[in-house]
Amino acid sequence: MMTYTNQYTTVTREALLAHVQSKMSTKRFKHVLGVEKTAIALAEKYGSSEEAASIAALIHDYAKELPMSEMKSVIETAGLNPEMLNFGSEICHGPVATELAKKDFGITSEDILNAIRYHTVGAVQMSLLEKIIFVADFIEPGRSFPGVDTARAIANQDLDEAVLFEMKHTLTYLISIEARIYPETILAYNAWVTKGKKN
Ligand SMILES: [Fe+2]
Ligand SMILES: [Fe+2]
Repeated sequence: MMTYTNQYTTVTREALLAHVQSKMSTKRFKHVLGVEKTAIALAEKYGSSEEAASIAALIHDYAKELPMSEMKSVIETAGLNPEMLNFGSEICHGPVATELAKKDFGITSEDILNAIRYHTVGAVQMSLLEKIIFVADFIEPGRSFPGVDTARAIANQDLDEAVLFEMKHTLTYLISIEARIYPETILAYNAWVTKGKKN
């Protein structure tokens, strides 16, 4: 498997894996490995750093099983928008993992940090790496929702189309269960539904 060059993180891939595994259930760790595999394949296909894709993928759900009290403390210490606390761990875990990535793994690459930060919600402007992590999280081999095969096929053809497909799918789902929508999710959707192909 991949050996890191120390360009992006102060730890080895093995140390990173062990750390990540210690923070989550076996099921979620399997998901993380699936996201890594998919992200590396997308990075190879679309010409992004496979090492950066691996690191961002391995860290993306690092905070997902953190208690809300700890998330709150990270958000307050880092001065992040406290509004996200009203939307629960689903919205908080990306930004919180970004802060932990700096502290625990010495990550300074803004691209990797943003890929982790925006992996759930997406963003109005997204770099290639951000798109890769956003899409890999949605289509990794362990995913089995209706529409995942379509999403995989689109991701293999056009990454921007895959981002828009995922945003539409997620928003439709959230509306179907009458969930509140985090405002940034709507902002991202509005941007991508009009300029997705050109982004
Ligand atoms: Fe996540
Ligand atoms: Fe995930």
